[in-house]
Amino acid sequence: MNQPHPLVAGNWKMNGLRVSVNEAENLAERLAGAGGISAEVMICPPALLIAQFCRELSSSGILIGGQDCHGESSGAHTGDIAAEMLKDAGASSVIVGHSERRADHGESSEEVCVKASAAHRAGLTAIICVGETQSQREKGQTLDVISEQLSGSIPHGTTAQNTVIAYEPVWAIGTGLTPTLDDVGEVHAHIRAQLSSALGQGDASAMRILYGGSVKPGNAAELMAVENVNGALVGGASLKAEDFWGIISVYAKS
Ligand code: PGA
Repeated sequence: MNQPHPLVAGNWKMNGLRVSVNEAENLAERLAGAGGISAEVMICPPALLIAQFCRELSSSGILIGGQDCHGESSGAHTGDIAAEMLKDAGASSVIVGHSERRADHGESSEEVCVKASAAHRAGLTAIICVGETQSQREKGQTLDVISEQLSGSIPHGTTAQNTVIAYEPVWAIGTGLTPTLDDVGEVHAHIRAQLSSALGQGDASAMRILYGGSVKPGNAAELMAVENVNGALVGGASLKAEDFWGIISVYAKS
């Protein structure tokens, strides 16, 4: 079976200035000194930093991604960024449907689906986020919510090559709280099973399913060891090279 190659992606959100490339360079040095990592490493900085990061980190092996894109390739959409523009700046991926965008900008799964499709059109990997709120978890609706978001957000043409799924419980983001390992395993297995009926077993088993929400150096090893967890989407702990390295090094070969 095609084992997914893990991915550890740092979502910087609305944090970072041009000088912050220093943190990324520090991370690149740690990676270079590590003697091999059995995972891909990505930073998704604010859009204005993408071109600079791609230039200055071009030989580091660190991939660069965007945090959102518009569904269309150009046009009268003030303030928006097309997937083609991210690609042109050097990005290889884009996060779509992060819960902060679903909440702050009222993005529906239908819109997320259009954005993911735009990412594919532009030749980017779409990192599609799903996750339940605290009250949905308390009401026992977690798996239903995930199913609905997943089926609504995955566009036609999705493959294991052009798409990554990130399970991020909304209540775990930035709070220091994480689900139990059993709960993480349950949701990831559920996502894998749903991908299998939607896309077929080949793509489903090869697709990366990341866990995100308060991943830290102290809990990364146990979370990454859960079955069907193929890496992490990391917010706060990706901003400092030392913390992010503490997570990535779970995949160090030596
Ligand atoms: P966090 O954020 O690691 O700060 O909880 C994760 C995310 O929102 O992607």
